[in-house]
Amino acid sequence: MVETIVILDFGSPYSPLIARRVRESQVYAELLSWDTPEKAVMALNPKGFILSGNLRSALEPGAPALPGYAIQSRRPILGIGSGMSALVLALGGKVTFTATPKYDLHQLSILRSSRILQTGDDPQVWMSCADRVDAVPEGWQILASAADCPIAALGDGERAYYGLQFHPELEFTPAGGQIIARFVRDVCQCSGDWTVQAIIDHAIRQVRSQVGDARVLSTVSGGVDSSVATALVGRAVGDQLSAVYVDTGLMRKDETQWVRKAFQDRLGANLHCVDAAETFFSNLQGITDPEAKRRVIGETFIRVFEATTHNLGDLRFLVQGTIYPDVIESRNLQQGDARPIKTHHNVGGLPEAMDFELVEPLQNLFKDEVRLVGEALGLPSELVWRQPFPGPGLAVRCLGEVTPGRVEKLRQADAIFTEELSQAGLLSHQEGGISQAFSVLLPLKTVGVKDGQRTYDELIALRAVTTTDFMTADWAHFPGDLLTRVSKRITSEVAGVNRVVYDITGKPPGTIEWE
Ligand code: XMP
Repeated sequence: MVETIVILDFGSPYSPLIARRVRESQVYAELLSWDTPEKAVMALNPKGFILSGNLRSALEPGAPALPGYAIQSRRPILGIGSGMSALVLALGGKVTFTATPKYDLHQLSILRSSRILQTGDDPQVWMSCADRVDAVPEGWQILASAADCPIAALGDGERAYYGLQFHPELEFTPAGGQIIARFVRDVCQCSGDWTVQAIIDHAIRQVRSQVGDARVLSTVSGGVDSSVATALVGRAVGDQLSAVYVDTGLMRKDETQWVRKAFQDRLGANLHCVDAAETFFSNLQGITDPEAKRRVIGETFIRVFEATTHNLGDLRFLVQGTIYPDVIESRNLQQGDARPIKTHHNVGGLPEAMDFELVEPLQNLFKDEVRLVGEALGLPSELVWRQPFPGPGLAVRCLGEVTPGRVEKLRQADAIFTEELSQAGLLSHQEGGISQAFSVLLPLKTVGVKDGQRTYDELIALRAVTTTDFMTADWAHFPGDLLTRVSKRITSEVAGVNRVVYDITGKPPGTIEWE
């Protein structure tokens, strides 16, 4: 069993980032709702607990509270934001509600060095000071303060309890990664056994024990997740695996040929390619609602698989490239807390009456872990480092109705944008490169002029972001001449488009995709 840190989720939208930061220290972290039954939590034998924050005050009626077993277990606890308030309250301290939470950058004064915070650390932090600690529990020391927040960090080194009013999981807190690393490695004494090889061995063992000698079907979409999941299951069960590639008609330019080429060698006769574009377009006819599109695409996918696999004999399992952020979003959808942003078709959109049992070997992994696993399994680096592409494909970038003509228009514009970015060397996965860039076709016509004639055509929005985790993102700042070139090319080469706009919205408040 790998060493595990349990993050008790108090409802902060940034809770998954805490898990990610912990795992950057090669320590496995599991995010569980704060009211998960004790038995399920303690079965993981946690080396320590982290309490995530919440956008609400810890003093509100019904607010999440620290479960008693966490204290009784005598393991280290780190409370963040209102998680700190909950910890202080549980140990007899006093907290007062001062104002509605308002997050901002603050400068810490670090009063003394401790096992998690040191006087030389970068003092910038991201915090809200709505709940104020007025009395520290017995035996605790104040570790840091800030202008409007006399107690910004505190702790009891002996019992290994720490509280941070600020959010170390966010990049706005530069020392945050280091602080979390110190908590899990020094305070909780985890040795760092969550290595790529451990991840692979663990997944292979799990897949083998789930599947036995039954046959397994996988879906290759050309995306990183489905490719790594397929390679991993292939490594675990060999010839028991058959893979299907469905051409939905919603893929980017040249994608289908490229995927075939990449997988033919690897899977040989066990790779089956199906052209289902007509079925997808026909099922999508008249549908404009983003969630309805995802549902229809998810269902169509499954139906196409069922039809294809009918001729492939008895296949009991289906591999899905579900990753941890998908699981968290879908879990939130069921709980109604930390509101979901959108359902992902590979989790939320599966029909209930499905003939397959799911194999989800990546369901505990973040994207960067998936990529490391892909590399370790010997997948080509162009594939492993490919930009993410949503399961529902161009359908969620073709706002309004999804027709073959509109998708083709979008595909051409997208290819021009990608080509120009790539020629400018901006699509590299190196630090500072663009993480994701694409075009969106809007269901809107605007007036333009071409060769002295009035035009009334659709418009393309360009979206490009930089991010490390896809949960928050910045819009990418380009040289203006690149945007001019892309705009000129799209409006002259793509028929029916007379205007190009560039999206300058971060996430939040926007999401990366437009639907
Ligand atoms: P958002 O738009 O939520 O996107 O900021 C975050 C990342 O997820 C991708 N995405 C999807 N991936 N099925 C997927 O497999 C989907 O339905 C889906 N929607 C968004 C998006 O491209 C970005 O990388």
